[in-house]
Amino acid sequence: MSKLAIIGGTGLAHLSDLKIINKQMVHTPFGAASAPLITGELCSQPVVFIARHGHGHTIPPHKINYQANIWALKSLGVERIIAVAAVGGITEKMGPKTIVIPDQLIDYTYGREHTFFNDDFSPERHIDFTNPYNNDLREQMISVGSSLDCDVVSEGIYGATQGPRLETAAEINKLEKDGCDIVGMTGMPEAALARELDMDYATCAVVANWAAGRSGSDITMQEIEENLIDGMGNVRGLIEKLLPLVLK
Ligand code: HPA
Repeated sequence: MSKLAIIGGTGLAHLSDLKIINKQMVHTPFGAASAPLITGELCSQPVVFIARHGHGHTIPPHKINYQANIWALKSLGVERIIAVAAVGGITEKMGPKTIVIPDQLIDYTYGREHTFFNDDFSPERHIDFTNPYNNDLREQMISVGSSLDCDVVSEGIYGATQGPRLETAAEINKLEKDGCDIVGMTGMPEAALARELDMDYATCAVVANWAAGRSGSDITMQEIEENLIDGMGNVRGLIEKLLPLVLK
């Protein structure tokens, strides 16, 4: 049975119904992971959980040690990752609370440690990244999502921005011209690092707000928090239904 991990993002700092079996802080050659890795059972299914932003949500997106987090998961034998992420919605279908299972991404981040192959370089270190997300995991999420009482969009392009500030309206216009449907700050280099270590990885994004300039008013933390309460509630439902399928 392949071992599955959930990386929790903003709005999903813990899995409330997770029966905790073990909690361990993993130190890696790249430093410490964001938080203890929690091994446990959810709906009687084994799962590993890590809070990307740390306990108490203290690590901003550009300071997350993505290398350590992915390495730590690999060191526990994790083979498949569902990455949960809050995003802004850019295009029409991507309204607040929508769950999006992106099929592509564009990376606008900079200055982040983005590879495990800094020193140890050989031709096979050019990973294929044509399709950045694992399609089996995506399809399983999409099929489970159709039974949920919320909007689930089965494809979209995720634009990964640097943060921690939100974007300008002009930046969002540029992202839309590039083809982006949603925008978030943590999708990269996480996805590429998982691919470098040969792990299956897919994102379950929750729209927290209309992206800058898309709603006619400024973005407030209050609206983000309110939308994420409902949105992440739906993600918990999706994960619970997904586990028996993914772990088959
Ligand atoms: N932009 C970038 N990241 C985000 C947003 C946004 O509007 N909302 C939630 N995460």
